[in-house]
Amino acid sequence: MSWPYPRIVAHRGGGALAPENTLGAMRLGASMGFKGVEFDVMLAGDGTPVIIHDETLERTTNGLGRVPDMTYGELSRFDAGKGNQIPKYEQAVALCRDLGIWANVEIKPAQGHERATGEAVARMTRELWRGAPLGPLLSSFSVDALAAARSVAPELPRGYLVSKIPHDWHDTMKRLACVALHCNHKSLTEKLAAEIHGAGYSILLWTVNEPSDAQRLLKMGADCLVTDALDRIGPDFR
Ligand code: G3P
Ligand code: MG
Repeated sequence: MSWPYPRIVAHRGGGALAPENTLGAMRLGASMGFKGVEFDVMLAGDGTPVIIHDETLERTTNGLGRVPDMTYGELSRFDAGKGNQIPKYEQAVALCRDLGIWANVEIKPAQGHERATGEAVARMTRELWRGAPLGPLLSSFSVDALAAARSVAPELPRGYLVSKIPHDWHDTMKRLACVALHCNHKSLTEKLAAEIHGAGYSILLWTVNEPSDAQRLLKMGADCLVTDALDRIGPDFR
């Protein structure tokens, strides 16, 4: 597959330069010229998809407790950093569309909510991005979430997200009809890159924060790099 998306993507909105997974972070990334963003989507207890990485609130907000135990109304009272609220998925999409930026939407289910999260995110993705010039790419570490997303909206492209490339990566990607492998950059070798491309899949690497690594990995054939270092690996990095 040829990669139709931006090649350098801001991790969790604005990488390390802004409170993660917030609208403020996405605005910052866009203001620096980034044309693509990655963020994480989880279901609140009332089924509202929200943008947050952890199942618990403590690390990234001033709240206490678990995301799946609270309604969106409750979650919206917390500060996710510099006065930002935890965004709803629909707010994040509206902002991306407004700013003209593409998104890698990572489905990040709280434990035990894999299928429900995959289904809800796929359903909303189909509606919210309808008519966008460049639709998003869904991804997840959870094969159950990806399978559920596929069953609801098979037309939405999917990436198989892994920390370490497993020996059966090809079987899993075929089974889930994924278009790209999203892996930790440390687990990619030249041999694997050739095999993955040879099998017709794209390669997205996270989280690449050193310009020397970025250069080497692009040379190795990576199609896309997700970075926290927005100031050192800019949107036009080659
Ligand atoms: O989607 C790439 C990357 O975000 C995966 O790891 O833990 O930052 O969501 P994490
Ligand atoms: Mg993520």
